[in-house]
Amino acid sequence: MSFVQVSVLQVLGIKTDLISPGDDMAASLEKAMARSDLAFQDGDILVVSESTVATAEGRVVALHDVTPGPLALSMATKYSKDPREMELILQESDEIIGGIPGVVLTLREGFLYPNAGIDNSNAPPGHVILFPADAQKSAFEIRERMAKGRKIAVVIGDSRTHPLRLGCVGVALACVGLEPVEDARGQKDLFGRELKITRKAVADNLVSAAQIVMGEGDESIPAVIIRGAPVPISEKSVVMPTIPPQECMYIGALRCGPRPYTGSGYDNLIEQAKEAMKKAYAPYSEFRVGAALLSSSGRIYSAGNIENASSGAGICAERAAIAKAIASGEREFEAIAVVGNAVEPISPCGICRQSLIEFGEDIIVIMANGKGDVLTATVADLLPRAFTGKCLR
Ligand code: THU
Repeated sequence: MSFVQVSVLQVLGIKTDLISPGDDMAASLEKAMARSDLAFQDGDILVVSESTVATAEGRVVALHDVTPGPLALSMATKYSKDPREMELILQESDEIIGGIPGVVLTLREGFLYPNAGIDNSNAPPGHVILFPADAQKSAFEIRERMAKGRKIAVVIGDSRTHPLRLGCVGVALACVGLEPVEDARGQKDLFGRELKITRKAVADNLVSAAQIVMGEGDESIPAVIIRGAPVPISEKSVVMPTIPPQECMYIGALRCGPRPYTGSGYDNLIEQAKEAMKKAYAPYSEFRVGAALLSSSGRIYSAGNIENASSGAGICAERAAIAKAIASGEREFEAIAVVGNAVEPISPCGICRQSLIEFGEDIIVIMANGKGDVLTATVADLLPRAFTGKCLR
């Protein structure tokens, strides 16, 4: 029998004292390593848990210091969450994609997090731990402090669930000194076929291995050293690669239908729609609607609905705005805001959806009412499988 040399992976836990806000984490880890007779060797990978990094960096917030705004209050009711926690989630995320009671799925700088990464496990009572302000910078600093001439890599790890899977796996938020994703495309499979889409999430897999030893509770093992991994260590600092949301199958599958508008990018467009609403001519229904259409050139065309004694001759606000823009020579649009005084954010009628999709499936529709409830969707979300010019070709 012959043996092939394979790597033997060691995962060495670093058991520390409790790390509190403001503590020097590198010093705490070094102290704990010395206590266990552990020292770095070239090729070692230090994995540190995100919540410990955040705690040491003082990213701990007392909930009684947080005052929830109106959006946080309404979203907290919708998702059965503490309004103060919801306020922090809104502050910490770029977009809330949706959610279930107790958890919202958020996007921040291209990363997906439950509840914007805000956690109350391992936080003192009445407190929550926010995400490290800049995990990449933290990884870099930890290596600067701890390497002492050794060739090591540092990974900051967190945990995530996969859709429909019970239980968490590791995910790397930042790393320094190793290539986080190995491109295996072009390599051959067992039958000599070229691998087409395989990329190996090296950094995430290392965090999963680390978590077998780290645990998530009161183990007091916030970091591990992974030794013997066949992962080359380099001096490079690589930003964790992500894919844009529109190329992600999970987000693509989720983003069908209106979701709460949580950004601020279209606040002015909403204001312009409200102004246009004042100029609506709606003596019959007395239901005033305003629309503001933003062209790709940056100009805004707004209008209110225009009714008629012969009801079919009336025109909705959206189409009046489209007519104004097209007559001015515009053909490409980014977004349209629509406002009406309704219980729910107003929704463009079927004819207006058809008129909008003529000029692009990706036009963002921002739907609002006077009370400040705002939803957003693309035109394609609102009019799936539309009949468009493509069908005629
Ligand atoms: N209306 C709009 O202008 N936009 C919409 O998205 C829905 C409805 C107008 C048409 C009519 O003048 C009034 O609202 C009541 O139907």
